[in-house]
Amino acid sequence: MSLLISSENKPQLLSVSQMTLESVNALFHYADILKPVASRKKVCRVLEGAVLANLFFEASTRTRISFGAAFCRLGGAVCDTTGFTTSSMAKGESIADTSRVISGYVDAIVLRHPEKGAVAEFARATNLPVINGGDGPGEHPSQALLDLYTIIKELSRSGKDINGSHIALVGDLKYGRTVHSLIKLLSLYKGLKFTLIAPKALQMPSYILDEVSNGDNIIEQFSVLDNNVRDIDIVYATRIQKERFSAGEDDNYSPELQLNKRFIDKYCKPSVIVMHPLPRDSRAEAFDLSTDLDNDPRLAIFRQTDNGIPIRMALFAVLMGVESNIQSSLRDTTWKTPHFMGPNDHFTLHE
Ligand code: NCD
Repeated sequence: MSLLISSENKPQLLSVSQMTLESVNALFHYADILKPVASRKKVCRVLEGAVLANLFFEASTRTRISFGAAFCRLGGAVCDTTGFTTSSMAKGESIADTSRVISGYVDAIVLRHPEKGAVAEFARATNLPVINGGDGPGEHPSQALLDLYTIIKELSRSGKDINGSHIALVGDLKYGRTVHSLIKLLSLYKGLKFTLIAPKALQMPSYILDEVSNGDNIIEQFSVLDNNVRDIDIVYATRIQKERFSAGEDDNYSPELQLNKRFIDKYCKPSVIVMHPLPRDSRAEAFDLSTDLDNDPRLAIFRQTDNGIPIRMALFAVLMGVESNIQSSLRDTTWKTPHFMGPNDHFTLHE
């Protein structure tokens, strides 16, 4: 049987380069079926008895918790490790040894590691399902999948198709792994215009631009904003990844590049969708996504984080080969959940 998502014939998701339009659509179909589980209307136990190792050797809040919650909501259980200091890697254990050891304990592994390529090295040393939860400045494929799922849902609200959209990526495009994965994944679609806005020091690496230039999409790069930037459909901001800078490296990030109401009014279509993988850096000097859009329905950031659950559930179901059991396993929940999870959700178009 051929696997829907695989790397070297193993059920592992290491890079969005593994995805095709067909596998994206199939994954999103399962995510749609699992949405009532994510919104706590239904329960699903297709992974009852299975155990996940959620290994995070780098800071994380939403990725670690949402992978863990997604696995639990499918009936599985989760073992966690956070940080190097509490792991045997601090004692000099190799990635391959760690991988083999953990494989004896669990049924699936999510790994985040500060070095690009480390998750692939780990995955080579096991036959178990592995998901790359972020490898340094490399990739973050599950984030790109939930971002794409969000884009498609948000556009369809206003009857629009993703093909032909104008998408702007703003911020740290050099070290931001979410935008590396996202632009590669988006290049599966036709007639897209990408506007890449970053200071000269933080522009998208050329090896990624080479991969996404398919002759059908337009890519324009800006380090200062001018009137050539306009009519953006989707704007996606990223945090400046200072923790990845080498000594003496400076971002030269200017307040003019900050994504805020002024930016939206000037450069975007009135129907723009505003996204960010989060966390946003709330310190004023960071010029990250402004809070002046917080009650604006075009701000999709919390719909985006919520979509992490159905997408990560769908990924586990597919990688563990239980996707065809989902529908028949759904049952009603027995407890009550608020209709809106956050006090401001009704301002921001939550379903
Ligand atoms: C991002 C990450 O870790 O790459 N966060 C996330 O997973 N949603 C973005 C960031 O750290 O800025």
